[in-house]
Amino acid sequence: MKYFFLSLIALSILVVGVFGFRGDKFSQAPIQVFPDMDDQDKVKAQTADSFFADGMGSRKPVTGTIPRNAEVGVMPVEFGAGRAGYYFDGKKEATFGNGLPDDLGIESEADMVGLLGRGEDMFNVHCAICHGKSGNGKGVVSHHLGKVGVGVPSLHNYPQETSPDGYIYEVISNGKGLMGGYKHNLPVRDRWAIVSYLRALQASAK
Ligand code: HEC
Repeated sequence: MKYFFLSLIALSILVVGVFGFRGDKFSQAPIQVFPDMDDQDKVKAQTADSFFADGMGSRKPVTGTIPRNAEVGVMPVEFGAGRAGYYFDGKKEATFGNGLPDDLGIESEADMVGLLGRGEDMFNVHCAICHGKSGNGKGVVSHHLGKVGVGVPSLHNYPQETSPDGYIYEVISNGKGLMGGYKHNLPVRDRWAIVSYLRALQASAK
């Protein structure tokens, strides 16, 4: 009999515990045994928030943000997809040409210094890992590629006479053999900046 009452009490507590207060509203916050991530610092959409000076919780897109379906021509940087002409494909009358494209707008020594500086930065970011900082083909990756028999060429072997500027631009854009292309990563201007910097590396290696 004693066990019967004990079980009845336990059962009542269980039933009331599980079903007793369903749907009731409480003024106090519930006791959280395992808080998980119930309480987070966050901004709900379309609400005010004092964190920002303008008091708005939702932020506007950063200035210069481009919508995915933007019209051609609104891009602040040009990747040159589907466009023709020396600046975009490195070709002068169907063959690869030499010289800086007019579109780069290089008019003074300062412009050229700016272009070379940009070229240096971009070369060190994108190319030096394989071709080496001086372009001698002895980058970190080439050291390891060498172990599996893949050679990375020294860029000093590609002079203007046999490898015109437009050709180097083409290799940077679309890659060659085991080297991938950079036309999706590097805007047209940066690719030309690298070509210029590469010529400077070649000159200094002589
Ligand atoms: C992942 C390593 C790697 C990176 C990064 C890389 N290259 Fe290469 N590059 C190679 C390899 C390997 C070859 C040889 C390709 C072949 O002939 O099959 C090559 C070849 C070349 C050539 C010679 C093409 C020819 O006619 O034989 C040029 C020029 C060149 N790379 C320039 C660059 C420039 C500029 C960059 C930076 C934008 C760059 N590479 C980034 C691995 C790389």
